[in-house]
Formats: sequence, structure tokens, C-alpha cells
Amino acid sequence: MLHGQKNLHPSDPESFITPAYGGRFIQEPVPKYEMPGEGLPPKVAYNLIRDELILDGNSRLNLATFVTTWMEDEARQLMSETFDKNMIDKDEYPQTAEIELRCTNMLSKLWNSPAEENAVGCSTIGSSEAAMLGGMALKWNWRKRREAAGKPADKPNMVMGINVQVCWEKFCRYWEIEPRFVPMEGDRYCLTAEEALKLVDENTIGVVVIMGSTFDGRYENVKEVNDALLKLNSETGWEVPIHVDAASGGFVAPFLQPDLEWDFRLPLVKSINTSGHKFGLVYPGVGWIIWREKAELPEELIFHCNYLGGDLPNFALNFSRPGNQVVAQYYNFLRLGHEGYREIHQTSQDVALHLSSGIAKLGPFDLISDGSDIPVFAFTTNETANFSVFDISNKVRERGWLVPAYTFPKNRDDLAVLRCVCKEGFTRDMAEMLLGDLQHAIDYFTSHPQHTPQTKGSGFHH
Ligand SMILES: Cc1ncc(COP(=O)(O)O)c(C=O)c1O
Repeated sequence: MLHGQKNLHPSDPESFITPAYGGRFIQEPVPKYEMPGEGLPPKVAYNLIRDELILDGNSRLNLATFVTTWMEDEARQLMSETFDKNMIDKDEYPQTAEIELRCTNMLSKLWNSPAEENAVGCSTIGSSEAAMLGGMALKWNWRKRREAAGKPADKPNMVMGINVQVCWEKFCRYWEIEPRFVPMEGDRYCLTAEEALKLVDENTIGVVVIMGSTFDGRYENVKEVNDALLKLNSETGWEVPIHVDAASGGFVAPFLQPDLEWDFRLPLVKSINTSGHKFGLVYPGVGWIIWREKAELPEELIFHCNYLGGDLPNFALNFSRPGNQVVAQYYNFLRLGHEGYREIHQTSQDVALHLSSGIAKLGPFDLISDGSDIPVFAFTTNETANFSVFDISNKVRERGWLVPAYTFPKNRDDLAVLRCVCKEGFTRDMAEMLLGDLQHAIDYFTSHPQHTPQTKGSGFHH
């Protein structure tokens, strides 16, 4: 978020935090928008800030976020013991670097990278940074192919569904690539091979396919896109590759849908990103990207640092970054193993399916998806409702639930939905409570027949 400067007069009550607790701890107001002349005792500063943060939503009731809101005490302890480690200091913290290496190995194997192809990867701050790195590799590789063929390389484009997360729009704008979006149409809310191919040409650096659409949790069909592109490439001589944005699905599909072919089993899938802080079950921020083989990562993008006298190749957008999230990712890998991840995500999916079927039975709602891909689903109101999704979002917020309401993108911006992300820590009992609160909300609007449905929300951002 960009923040503007505030220049308030010191007498303006907005400019300071007033002493609380009847002056028990502090007597003087504390300025809000400028650094206080003198500091506070640690306990006072702690209480002041903690009290203010009470106003934030309760993260455990936050069904809007994909990001982890609960970890075990041991994980929290390990994270707090490793807050001081800077991920970039490979020389000073070689064991943290080794842990990152072990994690990338586990992920590339989880995603079926063919061993002989020598996969490479790294951690990032989240899927957005991973997407930038993946997209840059696609652009550099495309440009090299064009230059080698003596063809112009000044008009790169990228093909994706309009349902992509905003990081891909950012990537295209920042790296000057024409984004080619497949719009939604009717009840098609995702990219299909047929629609993608209509937009692909010789200047396409790659097609992004999403495993777990942010809008409704649905998987896009990576295999169908792979097969169609293989055919197109062989007919045209192009080499259009696929990057899979598996921000959520990368940590779900291997456990819940192991037979689904979406990863490096498909030859055109050159790179995959995921968020460790989503279904990887780590607090924010850690993401990962893996390339199926070293040759997919252009040498020019790699910076070589000196590491204990050896060479440490590095590819990242930022420099310093906390090491403790990577440590926490490794904790989860060891603590849970394959079976632990499977059980946790199966439980979340059972809760999602239970909640979505319960919502469908309430009457005024229709499901857009049901949570059977990743445990995320979206639903909308039907003609029997005298309220909108925005009214419901506001009404359940009175009880503390954070259930976002938003409209779909272009061509289906007439469709407004609510979305529930069911994660570890959101239990079946809590789902029952939410169903009860949804019923109360319906009863409230039914008993207010004059109610005018709201057509806009408070601004939910993907
Ligand atoms: C499909 C998809 N891609 C990318 C992102 C961005 O992920 P991050 O928040 O880890 O940067 C998200 C976040 O919700 C997402 O759902």
C-alpha cells in the first residue's frame, strides 16, 4: 500500500495516541505520525501497539485469506528463535541455506521433476516474487530464441485467463509484456486450451495456467493446455512453454489429487511457483519456484556471490529477507511428512465440502464451485434472495467472520460472489457456526422486505 504524508496540527486529537489505563503507564500523549522525541518503556510500547491491533480482524475467522493463520507452538518457537537470520547471508548462515536447498529438492520431487533433467529452484517472499522470476526466465528464453533465429524480439506477449492473480498483471506491466487475457464467458470462469490457443502466436513467451484460481478455487486444465500447445508447437516450430501458477494447488494437488497430471510430468511445464505461506502451512511470507531443468533458467539472470570461497548462484528481486519462514517450511516438511500434509488438507477439504453443501441447502445461494479442487469455493445469491452478497458479507462481519464479496472480471462482472478459503484451524464446528450465522442473516433480510440490496462492497483485492 502506498501511504501519503499526514501533516496534522499537534493540537488535532487525530495526531496522537491518548494515554490509556487512567494514566497508569503513560501520562503524555504519544504522537502518531512523527517519531516521539523520547522513547517509551518496552512494556508500555508493547501494550500500546497490541491494544491498537485488537481492531484488526480475527485471523482465525478470516475466510478471505489463503495465508496460514495457525501454526504449532514449536513452529512459532523455532520461528522466533530464527528471526535474526537473513536469508541472503548464505555465508554467515550456511545451515539455513542448506535447509532452503533441502526444501527445493523436496518440492521438485513432489512435483515429479524428472531426475535426469536436473531441476533448480529457490525460495522467495511469496508467489508474487516467484511469478516475477518465472516470468523473467520465460521472457529471456523467448528473446534468445528469437534473436538466434534473426527475428524481432520487441513485442513479447503472455497468455493467461483473466482470472489470474494481480501479480501477473504486475509482471506484464513492469517487464513490458503485452498481457493477453482469455475473458470469462457464461459459466466458463477459467482458461481453456481452446481459448488460450486463439491468443498464442510466435511472440508468446509462455502460457500461465493456474492450479487453484483465486476467484473460485478451481484448477485449470494444465494437461489439456500442454497437449494443445505440443501440437501447435510441432505444427509451427514455435516453442511456447507453460508456467504453472500453483500458489495454492502446488501444496494441495500432490496430496489430494496425486493422479492429476499438472506438474513436471507434462513436458511443456517449465516452471512452477507456490506459496509456502498458503497450503504449505507457514506464516507469511515464503514462496517457492522450481524450474524443471537448469537450462530453463537463463544464466544472465543469475548473480554469482562468493560463498565460503565457493560460488553461490542467486536469483531474487530483493536482497535481505527473513530466513525464519524457510526454517518453518522445513519444520512442516519434517513434522508432517507426506501423510501429515494429506491428512490436514483432506480435513480442510471435508470441511469445505460440508460447508458448501450446507450453503447450497440454505436456499437463496447457488454454488459457483464446491471446494473439491483446493478447499476453496465461491457462491452467489439466486433470484429468491432480497439481499446481495455484499449485504451478507457485512452482516456476518458483525459476528467477526471475514467472508469477502466481490465481482468477477470482464464479461462476467455482472456476477458477484462470496468466497470461503477453508484452511487448517477452520474446523467443522466453526463451519456449523458460520452456517448458523448465514441462516440468521437470511432471516434478518427476510424480515426486512423493504431492504435495498447493496451493489458494492468495501473493496476486496485479489
Ligand atoms: C493463483 C495465485 N497466484 C499468486 C498469488 C500471489 O501469492 P502471494 O500472496 O504468495 O504473493 C495468489 C494469492 O492469492 C494466488 O491465489
